[in-house]
Amino acid sequence: MTVHTVPTRPIEGQKPGTSGLRKKTPVFMQPHYLENFVQAIWNGTGGASGKTYVLGGDGRYFSDRAAQVILRMAAASGAKKVIVGQNALLSTPAASHLIRLRKADGGIIMSASHNPGGPNEDFGVKYNTANGGPAPEPVTEAIFAASKTLGEYHILDAQDVDLSTPGTTTLGGMEVEVVDPVADYAELMRSIFDFDKIRALFGDGFRIRFDAMHAVTGPYAKAILEGALGAPAGSVVNAVPSPDFGGGHPDPNPIWAKDLMDVMFGADAPDFGAASDGDGDRNMIVGRNCYVTPSDSLAVLAANATLVPAYAKGLKGVARSMPTSRALDRVAESLGLACCETPTGWKFFGNLLDADRATLCGEESAGTGSDHVREKDGLWAVLFWLNVLAERRQSVAEVMADHWAKFGRNYYSRHDYEAVDAGAASELMEALRARLSELPGQTIAGLRIEAADEFAYDDPVDGSRTERQGLRIMTQGGGRIVMRLSGTGTEGATLRVYLERVETDPARMKDDPQAALAPIITAAEEIAGIRARTGRPRPDVIT
Ligand code: G6P
Ligand code: ZN
Repeated sequence: MTVHTVPTRPIEGQKPGTSGLRKKTPVFMQPHYLENFVQAIWNGTGGASGKTYVLGGDGRYFSDRAAQVILRMAAASGAKKVIVGQNALLSTPAASHLIRLRKADGGIIMSASHNPGGPNEDFGVKYNTANGGPAPEPVTEAIFAASKTLGEYHILDAQDVDLSTPGTTTLGGMEVEVVDPVADYAELMRSIFDFDKIRALFGDGFRIRFDAMHAVTGPYAKAILEGALGAPAGSVVNAVPSPDFGGGHPDPNPIWAKDLMDVMFGADAPDFGAASDGDGDRNMIVGRNCYVTPSDSLAVLAANATLVPAYAKGLKGVARSMPTSRALDRVAESLGLACCETPTGWKFFGNLLDADRATLCGEESAGTGSDHVREKDGLWAVLFWLNVLAERRQSVAEVMADHWAKFGRNYYSRHDYEAVDAGAASELMEALRARLSELPGQTIAGLRIEAADEFAYDDPVDGSRTERQGLRIMTQGGGRIVMRLSGTGTEGATLRVYLERVETDPARMKDDPQAALAPIITAAEEIAGIRARTGRPRPDVIT
């Protein structure tokens, strides 16, 4: 087997975003595109020589071929070993766990998360470090810098490795171990939750519908929910991962998981509904006639954490991304816990988890997780809820009502303007940024503005500073408007407007969120001129 050294030139724009490098699949399939980026990963992280990596992904279109290229490139650059999920499948949290369990030097995850997959949809490659988490900024910067000076890459001339059966083979001088993607992860879940209690809940007739959205969590949910926990066969739907996610959009929110919403709000709804995204790190929780926002879910899990064996001794602290609602802060305050506020992007939680400053973390974008891995974890969140319900023996709606009665309700919604003209979006942000200092003291749409700033984060562990992470406007009575541009879109710019208001009046706990937020929504429009600047009469997505 010969190692080829292929001359290449830097390719524009190989800058990892919020979560790895994501592009349209045809972009990734261009000659040298994937190879350049993989070589940049090796070059930006001190070389692959002697290293052990984990490799897998959500099974989207092109992953099978990309996996073979990555294996050949790892072998050509002298890697010692690659541990690959069978058929190149590994959910993102399972990959994170495997990196930690096997003390690997890093991992490569092939996924574009919740973005659709297919020949004309999205593909992505993400590098995770030895702690199991997404590469932090200095590492992604080093990879990007390496991509800009690339003159060649190395790849082995070899046949494809058979990834269809667990076992160990060699590729050149490198060991390739194909593993069952589910087994180690299932074991980890068993060590965290009270499986006996959850099994008893199902034994008493509790019904669940888990929608795997034709994505990677199918095999995990089948094995754990239907297998280990005894949920009735058929509880997990859309359970077979497909390269184009059944033509769907594997994002667990009320819009893309509408089938699940319809079932949960229909006649004869099961007790509990949940869904996960393409790569298994996001979650959606919905009870019978009761949708739980990700921000509320995080707050509920924090408030009930001691019901779960792994967290029975209490939490070390909690953390949320800045745009996530402050429902968590209210719980933290009552429990006397530190609550950290980080920029959007799971990678910012890594240092806090490593340093034992936080046990539980979450984001408004449907991500929840803990220190058991260094990624957010969809199925873990579902099992957490099941464990809580198995202990409390209440419906989801009852748990929410109790929670709001105790802590108040943070009405919350996100309005997205997708694929807008990138120039117009940055002008909108620039104009608002320029006006921030004059806003406090003004009354807009009947709301008095108390403070306005641009969020910057000083990491308390490594001292690094991350700036320009969203514009914030605080209104009287605990209201808040946040605006930022998405770091995960692949087309134009996506403007995200996050809206929040606290309600403590017990008689106002069941309002429609859009109605409860109406003054805040009007104020956001008046302050930023969203319609005029984007040319959009209304948001494309409201969560
Ligand atoms: C991914 C990241 C999350 C992030 C989300 C939204 O799922 O892993 O950490 O919150 O994308 O990011 P965006 O920049 O599009 O708002
Ligand atoms: Zn994801």
